Amino acid sequence: EKSGYDHYMLKEIHEQPRALRQTISGRIDADAGTVDIDVDLPAEYVDSIEEIQVVACGTSNYAGRYAAELLESVVDVRTTVEVASEYEFDGGRDPWRTLVVAVTQSGETADTLSAIRRAKRAGARTLAVTNTLGSTIVRETDDSVFIRAGPEIGVAATKTFASQVATLTLLAVHVGRARGSLSYGRARELLESVRKLPNAVQAVLDREDRVREVAREYADSDAFFFVGRKLGYPVALEGALKLKEISYDHAEGFAAGELKHGPLALVTEETPVLALLTDGSRPHETLNNVKEVQARGAPVIGATGTDGDGETSLGDGYVDVDLPVPETGALEPLVANVYWQLFAYHVADEKGRPIDRPRNLAKSVTVE
Ligand code: M6R
Repeated sequence: EKSGYDHYMLKEIHEQPRALRQTISGRIDADAGTVDIDVDLPAEYVDSIEEIQVVACGTSNYAGRYAAELLESVVDVRTTVEVASEYEFDGGRDPWRTLVVAVTQSGETADTLSAIRRAKRAGARTLAVTNTLGSTIVRETDDSVFIRAGPEIGVAATKTFASQVATLTLLAVHVGRARGSLSYGRARELLESVRKLPNAVQAVLDREDRVREVAREYADSDAFFFVGRKLGYPVALEGALKLKEISYDHAEGFAAGELKHGPLALVTEETPVLALLTDGSRPHETLNNVKEVQARGAPVIGATGTDGDGETSLGDGYVDVDLPVPETGALEPLVANVYWQLFAYHVADEKGRPIDRPRNLAKSVTVE
């Protein structure tokens, strides 16, 4: 069943190009700049939305944060993201104009279900973004959109994160086009990035040997810090979560600019810093933070896009390990995340951890 892979997690990491093709299949008309995600949100309703609130836990929460950045920047709808267990409905005078989006792979996470119930009781419209047909969340929300990633067995969410972000990007384009706030040109550009995703992710997977080498080199470090800005920030949080979950090492994700406000005190030669330097993540500003940690002797592993010329790596001359990310615009941080997945996997594998079943964790958390 693991198709020759040692763990489901590794199999699922490698399944991402296929999962992404399924996610987007038949949903994009790149020329027209439109999407069809089989969601029954009437145009008048979409027009009347005043705020979007995303609720989710763990990795799904980070997918939600990625999407919220996109929604705010390209769609121009006020969007908030909350950890489901902290959520309290806070809508305007007309709660129905608040769209509450639950992101959940399993559709059974108790914290997320209870957040949705609170929103419904207050009169909000609810929408689920999930991988699981027939799940509780599908029954309890007004609308649902499926991410179509296929079954995920490993406790660590991998391919579902990619498919969630891709689906939420399509949702953002749908909402933006319906409201008239997203231009045809920008919609086409975003859809073009979505279309490029499967091949771009494959190009990263093809560099697994290099990532394994790097993971082995740094596996015994004291701690690992992941940094990024904007769309790179949720990816930093996700990279750190993946690593701590399966390797049991100390890992933290920070907004790159926050390093100097505290975490820098922890940075030494023994704390590799994994930095996102791609489109959509303000790479030039992050380079300043890279210099700060290098001055303290920390090795820097960069997932890097290219500068305007399409050739020179943004990490050129700055990072110790340069992992190239293919050009995919606003989705470059998502593609870069695949490097962090492989890194986490190989660090954990090097340490002989039970990767598919990390201690104390369950695939689906059905208690609050
Ligand atoms: O099924 P869900 O997407 O609602 O699950 C949410 C989290 O429990 C889940 O993403 C968890 O953080 C993963 N184990 C992370 O790899």
